[in-house]
Amino acid sequence: MKKWLALLALACIAPLASAQAPIVIKFSHVVANDAPKGKGALRFKELAEQGTNGRVKVEVYPNSTLYKDNEEVEALQLGTVQMLAPSVSKFGPLGVREYEAFDLPFIFPDRNVLAKVTEGPVGAMLFKKLESKGIKGLAYWDNGFKVMTANKPLRMPEDFKGLKMRIQPSKVLDAQFRALGAIPQVMAFSEVYQALQTGVVDGTENTPSNVYTQKMHEVQKYLTLSDHGYIGYAVIVNAKFWDSLPIDIRTALEGAMRDATRYANAIARQENDQALAAIKAAGKTEFVALDDQQKAAWRKAMLPVYKEMESRVGKDLIAAIQKEAAAAGYK
Ligand code: LMR
Repeated sequence: MKKWLALLALACIAPLASAQAPIVIKFSHVVANDAPKGKGALRFKELAEQGTNGRVKVEVYPNSTLYKDNEEVEALQLGTVQMLAPSVSKFGPLGVREYEAFDLPFIFPDRNVLAKVTEGPVGAMLFKKLESKGIKGLAYWDNGFKVMTANKPLRMPEDFKGLKMRIQPSKVLDAQFRALGAIPQVMAFSEVYQALQTGVVDGTENTPSNVYTQKMHEVQKYLTLSDHGYIGYAVIVNAKFWDSLPIDIRTALEGAMRDATRYANAIARQENDQALAAIKAAGKTEFVALDDQQKAAWRKAMLPVYKEMESRVGKDLIAAIQKEAAAAGYK
């Protein structure tokens, strides 16, 4: 009889307890907590937990502690994690090739043009492409423009000849390095430092904040201030999870994401400038600035990639991005 009563009590209490258990969002990413994306993720956690009065708990897993960048999108699709912010260069292997337009060398002349693209119809169209993959795009987060690093100074396209360069899994980045005469090698972000240290690859490209927070500068003698390309993120969620959220919770999370996005995009430039200053202060890496002639030679070597890749990423998409640049006064 006693046992029967205890079971009855448990049956009454259990649903109450589970109703009070917070909804957990696992937010996995591959960069450091103090990189722009890492800071954005922590800000989202804070805002989301506040905005839902604790009904949502956001667990942030930085530095590939849960998944490497080549594993995380599948984990999101399977629902093992709920939220990610991969660089958009990671969507090619998923079959969404259009995002690789962002990898085209010199495609964004500045951040304002980039913001026009991501916040306008192109950004929305690209999010739509993810829907059939069970993914919902929530926001675009900025990182910044890339530098090149190696153990020799990279001043002219000829300097790349025969160098093994780590890339993200993007056919456009592959074509970019081939156009320079280098040998591109796709590699997970978490493995780059060691690969540079041991000479598995000779060099790489990334934003200063990623170079600094992963300590790549400690194993690279030269850094070229090339600003030849861009890295940015799509903050994405498992669509089924997102659609299953109570409407008030989802609305609160949308608000938190809006504010976290504003914050992440406001700090990115400064974070990268500070990272460059810190790399310089560390004294292990010599900076290479390009003069006008060298810049022109880089462009000349890399721009054929547009033609080569237009059937992959879409001629119209490239034209739409270029139209935004032209509207901002760039030729
Ligand atoms: C990389 O893989 O090089 C970076 O895009 C990683 C990141 O998320 O910034």
